[in-house]
Amino acid sequence: MSHKSDFDGKTVVVTGAGSGIGQETAVEFGDAGANVVLADVDTEGGEETAATINDDTDGAATFVEVDVTDDGDVEQMVETATEEYGGLDVAFNNAGIGGTFDETHEISEESWQAIIDVNLSGIWRCLRKEIPAMHEDGGGAIVNTASILGQVGEAGTPAYTAAKHGVVGLTKVAALEQATEDIRVNAVCPGYIETQMLDDAGVTTDEQMRAETEALHPMQRLGNVDEIADAVLWLASDGASFATGEALAVDGGYLSR
Ligand code: NAI
Repeated sequence: MSHKSDFDGKTVVVTGAGSGIGQETAVEFGDAGANVVLADVDTEGGEETAATINDDTDGAATFVEVDVTDDGDVEQMVETATEEYGGLDVAFNNAGIGGTFDETHEISEESWQAIIDVNLSGIWRCLRKEIPAMHEDGGGAIVNTASILGQVGEAGTPAYTAAKHGVVGLTKVAALEQATEDIRVNAVCPGYIETQMLDDAGVTTDEQMRAETEALHPMQRLGNVDEIADAVLWLASDGASFATGEALAVDGGYLSR
């Protein structure tokens, strides 16, 4: 679907833009003519995304090395949008880590804190810088990446599931607060999507694990990054003008079981 009229010349920030869902979504924003500020701890991946947008799309991109656990980095990201491109219209807060597989009584303090810090507190750090920048720019749209595990649990993922439920809750609160301020805040809840994160967890590389994971989805397959990117662009577009506080599942039917 073309979103040229929605995003042409608009400024978009994307966290986790160096890989997977963030990378594909950033490129789709570029295809729609947006100026995209790409944020990631992975400089190689981030620069690769920037080159793709600058060379192959109608948009423009700048990569900023950002760790979403660092408030100063997040501030720098938003300042890059306002200083280089004159404002902030859209934010896709997507950076995340899978973390370790441990049951609730076994997860280490270190692992718990690391997952919460990136996947939940990282989104809050982004929101608190993005919302004032959008106020100055007459409004905007924000999409946060949660997960199907923002709506149901999965054994062995206590911090990840708690963080993603937290993202859904935080999205609703920010949506309520900004509902009359022309800022819409929504979340996307992907099912299992083929990215580096699943490679690292063995889901895409181990044949049996892959088959078991596919079977959890009524469509009997994993999702692709473009299927999430398309949903994010819709949530950020004027076509979703009455949608706020929504946690949109894009999951091959996973949550309908
Ligand atoms: P990915 O591993 O391909 O991409 C994640 C990106 O986030 C990487 O480029 C990584 O460097 C970056 N990142 C990690 N920690 C960071 C930090 N502290 N600061 C800045 N950047 C950081 O994984 P994927 O799958 O594209 O994940 C994107 C989001 O989607 C995550 O929030 C993840 O939890 C979520 N998600 C993924 C699903 C999947 O099955 N792949 C399912 C549901 C949600």
